[in-house]
Amino acid sequence: MKGIILAGGSGSRLSPSTDSINKHLLAVYDKPMIYYPLSVLMLGGIKEIMIISTPEDKSRFEGLLGDGSSLGISLIYKEQSDPNGIPEALTLSEYFIGKDDVTLILGDNIFYGQGFTTLLRKAIKDHEHATVFGYRVKDASRFGVVEFDDNQKVISLEEKPAEPKSDFAVTGLYIYDHHAVQKAKNLPFSDRGELEITDLNQAYLDKGQLDVQLLGRGFAWMDAGTHESLFDAAEFVKITQQRQGFKLACLEEISYYLGYISREALYEKGKSMEKNDYGRYLLEIADRKHTKQYWDPAVNQNPMLGMIENE
Ligand code: TTP
Repeated sequence: MKGIILAGGSGSRLSPSTDSINKHLLAVYDKPMIYYPLSVLMLGGIKEIMIISTPEDKSRFEGLLGDGSSLGISLIYKEQSDPNGIPEALTLSEYFIGKDDVTLILGDNIFYGQGFTTLLRKAIKDHEHATVFGYRVKDASRFGVVEFDDNQKVISLEEKPAEPKSDFAVTGLYIYDHHAVQKAKNLPFSDRGELEITDLNQAYLDKGQLDVQLLGRGFAWMDAGTHESLFDAAEFVKITQQRQGFKLACLEEISYYLGYISREALYEKGKSMEKNDYGRYLLEIADRKHTKQYWDPAVNQNPMLGMIENE
């Protein structure tokens, strides 16, 4: 399974904040936005990841995350010269995907909730052709909307419908087989001049190959694409972290608990940034004498992250 984070686009709704910096490098409370989707792919067990961004911003992401080795993963970077739409992520990564399956996540999407990793890992393991995630929202007309029957079988998909047939939006997390590349190549541009992810999902639906997994009310799904939603997301992260003392999307912590990096490496990283809260948090985890109380790999439980459960 390969992973892709789409972190290009124009970010026009966040202007002027995004006039000279890529949206996905803006902070969501205490860390760059891209940490959140990257944490999702890592928690899903994906180790080979491509980050797609604009020609101007590619080097900034490389500067931030490097080749991924300090996290025990592999990161490569690709330019999207124009924001032609989400499905272009698949055509741009044709050789990277090869004959593998791929999980695509939008760079401004944040997922959080007890059992999310279990759900994602299961979806990755069980999926056949295309799997998307539905989330109940109050204002479905702003999103791609999925309608399904009582057996959770998808009946229809619509992009930003004036009168939505359901309250379920399609989130920015998609799992595809490698045929998605060819399907994306065949898509027409829409009236707004973009390739539409809803059209790609429709191509799978037409063949009876689209599965929808519902994220229930215990999950939080946010995108941080407007000033309001960015502020709300930051507030959510701040409150959740302060209440529990655990950080969301702390990449080094995830790496450590997944066994990708050593306690020493975690400690060194924490030491190099001990003047801030993020660094001190890493030191705290590395120093914890009672780690096993939080997570015993032998029983494959990690209640600290609240996620790695029996696979
Ligand atoms: P959008 O929020 O639809 O677009 P945007 O980020 O360009 O912002 P705005 O509408 O304010 O101008 O994009 C959703 C996500 O997908 C976002 O993380 C950016 C990314 N994206 C790309 O990387 N390339 C693209 O061609 C498009 C359309 C989006």
